[in-house]
Amino acid sequence: QEQLKGRDLLTLADYSKAEIAYLLELADQIKQKRKNGEVYQPLKGKTLGMIFEKSSTRTRVSFEAGIYQLGGTGLFLSANDIQIGRGEPISDTAKVLSGYLDGIMIRTFSQKDVEDLAENASIPVINGLTDNYHPCQVLADLQTIKEEKGKLDGLKLAYIGDGNNMAHSLMIGCAKMGLDVAIAAPKDYQPKTEIIELAKSFADGSEVVVTEDAVEAVKDADVIYSDVWASMGQEAEQIEREKAFAEYQVNSALFAHAQSDAIFMHCLPAHRGEEVTAEIIDGPQSVVFQEAENRLHAQKALMVALMS
Ligand code: CP
Ligand code: NVA
Repeated sequence: QEQLKGRDLLTLADYSKAEIAYLLELADQIKQKRKNGEVYQPLKGKTLGMIFEKSSTRTRVSFEAGIYQLGGTGLFLSANDIQIGRGEPISDTAKVLSGYLDGIMIRTFSQKDVEDLAENASIPVINGLTDNYHPCQVLADLQTIKEEKGKLDGLKLAYIGDGNNMAHSLMIGCAKMGLDVAIAAPKDYQPKTEIIELAKSFADGSEVVVTEDAVEAVKDADVIYSDVWASMGQEAEQIEREKAFAEYQVNSALFAHAQSDAIFMHCLPAHRGEEVTAEIIDGPQSVVFQEAENRLHAQKALMVALMS
């Protein structure tokens, strides 16, 4: 799809339903090629820079392996080791890197930094997680749901826990793709009001519900999703958050309120015994490793669409 060439992915809010559907379709095809052992290298000679200001296992490895499999090369750029860490402006960094690379993936704290990078770069910028959003994860999540349920439209996803980057991106991704989404979070940890409103503005017949009641959220859900209670950068709040989220654990009692064939999803890394019990995440209805694998396929599709 010509429309995606050269674009950034800062949040799924910027992509239409048709564009997301196209990426999911391409992700399936690319996954199939890999399963068939087919060599597919449309990004031969291209280089992706990957700036990390936070830790990562999945994002780093799936982008680096992904660009390599597509015929290109990935450069891991720890924010501590490049001049950004010593105060070089993001705008200068963007202009310099645009002269060397064909795309930039960045994981950082502030969404504004990613916007500044994109505004000043002449090459595609991909958000690999900020405090506000994690769009690449949600592309892989939607791919996984479609594989498991055969469709997206008309399903219900319940997210239990912190109103964080995952909650925000899931609300937007689900609203765009026709899934009902219910977020259950304690009063002081609900998603940002403006992002709830944004997600609602995308819903075309489907529902976006935010509640404090985990049972209400999970009722009749097809997908139950959880994430850590303390995200990267919030380590000092761990104890306080464990108390605040005690009633928001995904366990078999809560799961019983969902559809009997509901699947469990989690972006990982997970903390067994906190946001989810081992019984659920390691149980037969969990698809978390398929979901993690799909990061590779979904991001390869994204890179092909934006960078080729
Ligand atoms: N889910 C996810 O983004 O994992 P990493 O933090 O390991 O990249
Ligand atoms: N909410 C988590 C997601 C990790 C993939 C964090 O930001 O740390």
